[in-house]
Amino acid sequence: MQETWLISAFSHGQATYRHPRKWKLRRLLSFISHLLCCALDRRLKNDTSRALAGVTVNDNMKNDDLENLEGVGPAIASRFRSAGMTTAEVIVVTPPKEIAEKTGVGFNTVLNIVESARKMLSLNFTTADELWKKRQTMCKCSTGSKNLDKLLGGGIATQAVTEFIGEFGAGKTQICFKLCVTAQLPLEEGGLNGSVVYVDTEGTFMPERIAEIASASGLDPEKVLAHIFLARAYNSSHQGLLIDHLFKFCLENNVKLVIVDSMIGHFRGEYIGMGALSERQQALNSQLHKLLRLTEAFNLPVVITNQVQANPATFFGDPNKPAGGNIMAHASTHRVYIRKGGKGTRIASIIDSPSLPESKTRFKITEKGVEDAQEGKEEAKEDDEEAQVQPK
Ligand code: GTP
Ligand code: MG
Repeated sequence: MQETWLISAFSHGQATYRHPRKWKLRRLLSFISHLLCCALDRRLKNDTSRALAGVTVNDNMKNDDLENLEGVGPAIASRFRSAGMTTAEVIVVTPPKEIAEKTGVGFNTVLNIVESARKMLSLNFTTADELWKKRQTMCKCSTGSKNLDKLLGGGIATQAVTEFIGEFGAGKTQICFKLCVTAQLPLEEGGLNGSVVYVDTEGTFMPERIAEIASASGLDPEKVLAHIFLARAYNSSHQGLLIDHLFKFCLENNVKLVIVDSMIGHFRGEYIGMGALSERQQALNSQLHKLLRLTEAFNLPVVITNQVQANPATFFGDPNKPAGGNIMAHASTHRVYIRKGGKGTRIASIIDSPSLPESKTRFKITEKGVEDAQEGKEEAKEDDEEAQVQPK
């Protein structure tokens, strides 16, 4: 009787006989290893919870809750964790096909898990006023310029991709540097109370400039630099890998702001000519959508920079238009165009946003990073002239 039971317990397709004494030893070893696995797993959960406790400002966000999902046992949970998918939020925003590819779990199983994650988060129809309440809990990160913050509806918003577009020297990178500092401030001081990820695709990240901005703002430069995670992307594919890795990294490192400076640089350099355009746009689209998902899953803002391209056929107005075509235009939530103004000032205009009016303001680049610029009569006249050359 006992032997029959032993045979059936070990039969993975083939029935194999085991000697009872050896079997007891094996059972003991397997029990000890199970205990060790449970202890490790609990530790992992606790660590992630601690990391997440500071990350999110979204009450709905759950910690590492994979095992609570239907169809997820320790083996599948471990595969999901290795692929950087550690919460129900990340699972519901990632396309099932991508989950299956990354985890190696069968597509149908993935569909069931996604369905279970949706149920867990109650992702059904919701009334608009509930969504409105949720959006009121969104955080805004100050740019350091009150004018620019006002233009952006209070600052750089979480759950959104904000794109800064402009020609060389417009001040896009300077805004990103300032955000690296302000994002670390407490919420009541206009910050997001967390760390920053900076994906540098052009090799223009300057720690000494960040240190200068931090010192001028009365902060300890070393502490500020210690909370900026820098990743140098060497080509568009490397950039994609880094973006993929963010889903795990942000959770583990209390990241509250992600910056990609610049989003398009590598794509423009690598995909040359009209023949490569469709392939380029597909690859760019995929990365942009991952960033959008990241903003939703972790309730954080993503800031990207974009270059301009000249249209030689333009006779009137600004010949420059944002690079990246419709793909960039659709993926970004708020698009801000920056151009140089008189007396070293910069003019920022909202050129596309679902919630912000088309308006403009003036700021300047200083030792502190980014600050308000005075609007005198001369500037007002210049602004009127600039209004004629707004890019579309
Ligand atoms: P690209 O990356 O080339 O597309 O340009 P960008 O838009 O990123 O330009 P960036 O943000 O690097 O701005 C460069 C401008 O900032 C230059 O005109 C510099 O004069 C100005 N700038 C950089 N550092 C300082 C500084 O410490 N003080 C002041 N006042 N201006 C600075
Ligand atoms: Mg730059």
